[in-house]
Amino acid sequence: MKKISFTLNGEEKEFVLDSADEKLLNLLRRYGYKGTKWGCGEGACGTCTVILNGKTVYSCITYAFLAEGSEIWTIEGMGTRKNPHPIQKALVKEGAVQCGYCIPGMVLSAKAMFDKIPSPNDLEIREYMDGNLCRCTGYEKIYTALKKVAESNAEGGK
Ligand code: FES
Ligand code: FES
Repeated sequence: MKKISFTLNGEEKEFVLDSADEKLLNLLRRYGYKGTKWGCGEGACGTCTVILNGKTVYSCITYAFLAEGSEIWTIEGMGTRKNPHPIQKALVKEGAVQCGYCIPGMVLSAKAMFDKIPSPNDLEIREYMDGNLCRCTGYEKIYTALKKVAESNAEGGK
């Protein structure tokens, strides 16, 4: 089967496709990157979101071969349990994580937003997070957490 390589969470890696139409979500999970979740499998829930060349994609509907030569970030490239990413810290602090199933996608969508707009306004936060569904939280705590990250970035990341 065809080999592809791309930079995953800052490291150049090689992967073997298991079929010509394998999806990126499947490939990532086969190689152990199981933080990227399988939800609807049809581009409707956002839990499989990863960042591909600076933009969020639904990995469940993205052909893995399209990742050749790209730069991809998944939740494994964000913070660690001991040293969480500021987005993760803010979500936990606000009590915005319940079952957690949507959170990897939420974190990646938020990272793509903050990489582009360090201090997004309310509308920008809602626009960037659109397409990430959460069954548990009612969204307000997630929104409040991201607003606090935006405010902290505006103050120079204090
Ligand atoms: S699993 Fe990909 S959008 Fe739902
Ligand atoms: S925390 Fe459960 S789906 Fe979002």
